[in-house]
Amino acid sequence: MTITILSNSDEVATALAERVAAALRAKPDAVLGLASGRTPVDGYAEMQRLHAAGQMDWSRASTFNLDEFAGVEPTHPGSFRTFMQEHLFRGVNLRPERIRFLDGSAVDLDAECRRYEQAIAAAGGIDLQLLGIGSNGHVGFNEPADDLPVHTHRVTLMDSTRRDNAALFGNEPSRVPREALSMGIGTILQARRIVLVATGVKKAECIRQAVNGRITTRVPASMLQVHMAVELLLDREAASRITPA
Ligand code: GLP
Repeated sequence: MTITILSNSDEVATALAERVAAALRAKPDAVLGLASGRTPVDGYAEMQRLHAAGQMDWSRASTFNLDEFAGVEPTHPGSFRTFMQEHLFRGVNLRPERIRFLDGSAVDLDAECRRYEQAIAAAGGIDLQLLGIGSNGHVGFNEPADDLPVHTHRVTLMDSTRRDNAALFGNEPSRVPREALSMGIGTILQARRIVLVATGVKKAECIRQAVNGRITTRVPASMLQVHMAVELLLDREAASRITPA
């Protein structure tokens, strides 16, 4: 793992935007894997700024988001699709048909997961996958468990994750769906490059476990240690419990 420690969350946002901008410069038709959550939001704002300044062209790019709540229409105010529209898509020139998302309102959710996995393969795989990390070590919605599905799948959300996502549902954890759809750890590890962002002291312990701990499905982010091209962009607080190798 390449670990880049920056002074503060603004620098993490700038670095995240720069990684994506560099990927699009190198390969204008890059396939990007995107993450929701609060952590990348300032990075997405910086990407919009770069686009407005003529320094980031998304016209040939494709995107696949990591996950979505089950039982939620794409237009629902709490959906990750709505979140991405507000925080990124509306401010860049992505072609709508190249924005790919899991549909949490699909009638057959298992078929929807299979469709998504096939769509990623048909696009040639993901060139650059962005990730946040849950305070319990989850990536996407791959929650800590004794074993994990490889591919895109349905998942039952932990109560702590539902609390963490309550802001999207009127600050009411009980209104957060109990289930979600998520790329699997295998789907994520097939990306050619991965950039994970984490900021704040609340992430220090899960980052320590992901970086210094053993590889375990109990800390899904620890499985990133087997990937050949992972970079962690951390502020000082999130990096504060890492011990040097
Ligand atoms: C959600 C998302 C994850 C994200 C995590 C962290 O659970 N499914 O993909 O990484 O939140 O969110 P935040 O960045 O708000 O801490």
